[in-house]
Amino acid sequence: MKPDFTRKLLQWNKSSNTRAMPWKGEKDPYKIWLSEIILQQTRVEQGWSYYEKFIAAFPTILHLARANEEKVFKMWEGLGYYSRCKNLIATARTIASEYKGKFPNTYDQIEALPGIGPYTASAISSFAFNAPHAVLDGNVQRIIARYFGITTPIDTTAGKKLFQTLAQSLLHHDEPGIYNQAIMDFGAVICKPQNPLCSDCVQKKECEAFKQNAVTQLPVKQKAIVRKERWFYYFIIECKGKWYIRQRTGKDIWENLFEFVLFESPAAVEDLTVKLPFLKKLVNGQACQIESISRMYRQQLTHQTIHGRFVKLKVQEALPALNHFLLIDKKQLSEYAFPRFITTFLGEPAPPAQLF
Ligand code: ADE
Repeated sequence: MKPDFTRKLLQWNKSSNTRAMPWKGEKDPYKIWLSEIILQQTRVEQGWSYYEKFIAAFPTILHLARANEEKVFKMWEGLGYYSRCKNLIATARTIASEYKGKFPNTYDQIEALPGIGPYTASAISSFAFNAPHAVLDGNVQRIIARYFGITTPIDTTAGKKLFQTLAQSLLHHDEPGIYNQAIMDFGAVICKPQNPLCSDCVQKKECEAFKQNAVTQLPVKQKAIVRKERWFYYFIIECKGKWYIRQRTGKDIWENLFEFVLFESPAAVEDLTVKLPFLKKLVNGQACQIESISRMYRQQLTHQTIHGRFVKLKVQEALPALNHFLLIDKKQLSEYAFPRFITTFLGEPAPPAQLF
């Protein structure tokens, strides 16, 4: 029997899908692209207000292409995964210079832009131009694995091929945009990773996982995520009423964002006073006064966990070891984009000054 998945999905979408989002039904490829980049690694509830802020500040792709880079980064602050923001600027500028500001309208042209992979290219080209490309992400893989009862791991070459083929075979070719949005919503609302709403599901009669009582076991993944643990100790060093900050570079997390003086360790550090060799070397014999040591902060990223504390201290004379840092006025702090790990600390009441 040929599965009737597509028809039932579209029927569910028409009659029961009440999920509202500001970009839904949008036809402007710029707005669709912006929403898809935000949603690549961000939940809808969190991304919503950022989308509206960006559209208000940059109503067209040319506004974004001409914007000051720091302003765009500042607006991205809190969303994380900043390579997305870097690629956002790069793509806006590419479209301004190579396409005269007009968003390209074919899948291949769209996929060639910075920060756009097959999923995002399928979403944009189907929503904006009705191109027949099925989206395939973790949500769609989960739906397909359950519906067909597939135990091939999703993270193997064979699995990727199989899921891609099935995803494309289920697409509705007359309404690919509506179909793609419907399957995304179906994964978010009904066929959820945890506690899926199987009893309400229009697909349950044909769903292999439901029939075999195996919904929670699918999809199968071969490799468990290995998470790295890192400890970040930030020294907020004040000198003559100013603070030392620098911009992060390189291929690590939080690229291009600003930070204080960082001592990173692969394990927790107990003694954060001047006895710490890192700090001892930095102050190089100068008298320094530690004002406070924060509580332990923790941030969970996809492949790593960051732990850390913030140590506030004052020195009287500039530190030559920090010549490559900026010395900024405290009032200027809000002009720079910091990782959420740091803004969380800055947003909390300062711990009482203590002597260490
Ligand atoms: N995730 C990625 N794209 C999405 C969209 N258009 N709607 C809802 N969630 C999404």
